[in-house]
Formats: sequence, structure tokens, C-alpha cells
Amino acid sequence: MSDGAQAARKADYGWDAGLKLPIAGVALGCMVVVAAASRLWPPLIGGSIALCFVAKALHTTRRGKFRVWGELLDGLRLRGDERVLDLGCGRGALLLAAAQRLTTGRGVGVDIWSRGDQSGNSVAATLRNAEAEGVPERVAPLTANMMALPFPSDTFDVVISNIAIHNIPGSKGRTRAIDEAARVLKPGGRLLVADLAFTGAYSRRLVELGMAGVARRSLGWRMWWTGPWRATHLVTATKPGSGRPPAGSK
Ligand SMILES: C[S@@+](CC[C@H](N)C(=O)[O-])C[C@H]1O[C@@H](n2cnc3c(N)ncnc32)[C@H](O)[C@@H]1O
Repeated sequence: MSDGAQAARKADYGWDAGLKLPIAGVALGCMVVVAAASRLWPPLIGGSIALCFVAKALHTTRRGKFRVWGELLDGLRLRGDERVLDLGCGRGALLLAAAQRLTTGRGVGVDIWSRGDQSGNSVAATLRNAEAEGVPERVAPLTANMMALPFPSDTFDVVISNIAIHNIPGSKGRTRAIDEAARVLKPGGRLLVADLAFTGAYSRRLVELGMAGVARRSLGWRMWWTGPWRATHLVTATKPGSGRPPAGSK
């Protein structure tokens, strides 16, 4: 999808991490203005640096992730008839972008609607967004935990997830989510999981599960970055068994 189409987003996707970021931005902005007016250099410098980090995170949540995932979804070169599952879909940033690339296919999103993870998170908000983006008949947001997906094995052509699995406390639960993602993929189905932590563990588990073409790479500055040791990485893999080449191969 073109950059123009991205700019034409009509829905409201809220703020990742709840309202913490906009509140921090306003508080830091006030602090910087007061410190500058009072010529208080240490709080001015410290507040300005912190404000830059918050501004970068706000860019990711409102713009960067849409651009990055637009490129990733375009890279899948979907036929249009696929069944796509979004794990931890929230208000539909990926789910609806995927649906816009489908014709006869359908997108399913599962979530437990945690408002600490995304502001205004609810199935109703996602359905409203689907209407706003013109794809209500192509998506089904469901209340379900990604550790126990309510779908038979071998159901989806593509499973995607953005900044969601790390919210599961404990490695056993996160491993369970990865196992479930692999289980519900059809043979030849493709997996794309972006997260800002634990992606090395996801990759290792996918190799243990016998997934093909397991790869992991940084998604760069436009995605969440909270330090060199906590940047968003993408894990890709393909479920073996259909003769289709692994995800990402030429
Ligand atoms: C930071 S939000 C990201 C939402 C969406 N993927 C996006 O990029 O806009 C993380 C999402 O994961 C969901 N989530 C957390 N734990 C979950 C679980 N165990 N099962 C399903 N969804 C979960 C939260 O409710 C939240 O909507």
C-alpha cells in the first residue's frame, strides 16, 4: 500500500502503552518550558533529552509502526484470499491494514483488550475502526487469549503480531503463544512477529517446533526502541509442508 494510502487512515488507533506517553509528553514539555524560562540548566537538559525519547515513542505509536507494517504486509504479496490472524490486535493497526490487502480473504484478531497496553482498547473500538477503514465485512475481532487460541490447527495462511507477546508474564506463557501461532498456521503459512523483547527466545522455539526459514532482524528506528538492548525485532518463519519457499526467500 502506498504512503498516500497510509496517510489516509481514517480510524483512531489510540496510544500504545495506554495514556502514559501523551501524559509524559505534556508533563515533560511543561517542565522544559519552566526550566528554560527560569534558566535552570540541569532540568532543562535532562527534560529535553527525556522529551526527545517520548517524542520518538509517540512517533512510533502514531506513525512509525503503520509505515513499517505497511511495508511488511506489502512484502507478503498476498493474493487476497488468505486467512490472516493478528495476535494481540488491539484497535486494529495491523489487522485492518491486512484486511485492506484482502479481497475474498478474512482477517481475525484476538485480544484480551488490556487498556494498560493500548488506550481505549476494546472489541467495539476495533469494530468502529473497521467501519472507518471500510473493511467491516473482512475482519472479525474476537476476545481470546493468544496462549489458548480457539481455532483448529492449520487454519491460517498468515499469522502476524506486533508488540503484544512480551506482555504475557513468564516465559512459559510466551512459549505457549508461539506454539499456538505455529499450530494454527496452515502448512506453508507464514509467521511475522514483531516485539521489543524475547524475540531470540521466540526464534529458538520456532526452530525447536521445526518451522522453516526462521529469521530475526531489527525493524529500525521507526519502531519501539527503549535502549540498545530493547529494540523491536521481527521474527519470521514458515510452517513446512506445502512446497512454498520459506518467508523472506527470493
Ligand atoms: C501494545 S498493544 C499492541 C496492539 C496492536 N498489535 C498494535 O500494534 O497496535 C498490545 C496488545 O496485546 C494485547 N494482549 C496482551 N496480552 C494478551 C494475551 N495474552 N492474549 C491476547 N492479547 C493480549 C493487549 O490487550 C494489547 O491490545
